[in-house]
Amino acid sequence: MIFESHAHYDDEAFDGDREELIGKLQEQGIACVINVTAEYSHIERSLALAEKYPFFYSSVGVHPSEVGELNEDNFERMKSLATTKKVVAIGEIGLDYYWEKDKDKQEEQKFWFRRQLALAAEMSLPVIIHSRDAAEDTLSIMEEAAKKNIPGVIHCYSYSREIAEKYLSMGYFLGIGGVVTFQNSRKLKETVEAAPIDRLLLETDSPYLAPEPYRGKRNSSLNLPLVIAEIARLKGITAQEVADRTCQNARELFHV
Ligand code: NI
Repeated sequence: MIFESHAHYDDEAFDGDREELIGKLQEQGIACVINVTAEYSHIERSLALAEKYPFFYSSVGVHPSEVGELNEDNFERMKSLATTKKVVAIGEIGLDYYWEKDKDKQEEQKFWFRRQLALAAEMSLPVIIHSRDAAEDTLSIMEEAAKKNIPGVIHCYSYSREIAEKYLSMGYFLGIGGVVTFQNSRKLKETVEAAPIDRLLLETDSPYLAPEPYRGKRNSSLNLPLVIAEIARLKGITAQEVADRTCQNARELFHV
C-alpha cells in the first residue's frame, strides 16, 4: 500500500488520459492520493476529483507563485470550499523566491502565507508547505505556526540537513519525491539518511519531478516505487517498510 501525499491530477498535463491513468493507480498499489491545489482557479477541479474517486482527497490552497489571484472575496470563498467533505489539508502554501525576486511581491507572498496558515488553524487542518530559495523566512513563519500547533509537511524538501532537523524538532514531516533519485541530490540523500522514517512522506508532485530514469518526463504516482527503492537503499530497510511506514505517517497527518 502506497500513500501518494502530493500530486496535481487537475493539471492540464493529464487532460488526455486522466481517467485511464487514475484507473491504473489502485491496480498498482496506490492506496490513497492527496490531490494538491496550487491555483485558486483549480480548486473546484481538485474537489471534483476527490468527489469522483473514493481513494482521492483534496487540499485547498494557493501556491506562493499564484497568490496574485487572491483577494478578500475569493479568500472567503476558498474558506467555504475548505469545509467541503474530503478536504484534508491547506496547501500548497508558502514562499517561492526562486521565481519571485521582487521584494514587494515577496511581502505579498508572506501575507497570504500567514493568512492561509491562520485558515488551517481555524479549520484544524494540516498544511502542505512549498518553499524554494526562501529558507530563512519560511522557517521563521513555520516557527510561529508550530507554536499554534499547526501540523504539516514540508513538501519536496530541498534545504540542508540542519534545517531539516529544525523542522523535525517542531514535529513537521518531510515530503520526499523524485528528486531523491537524482545523482546530484547529495544533500537530500543525506537528509533522508538522517531523518527518522516516521517523519517522511512519499510524494511525486506529478506531473513534475519524475524520478530517474524518467527525469524530465511527465510524472505520475506509478513512479513511486522508484522513490521507495531509493529511500530503502539510503536507510537500509526494505521497500515494504518504506511503503508501510510512510503510509502510516500520511494517515496520521491527514486523518484518512
Ligand atoms: Ni506541488
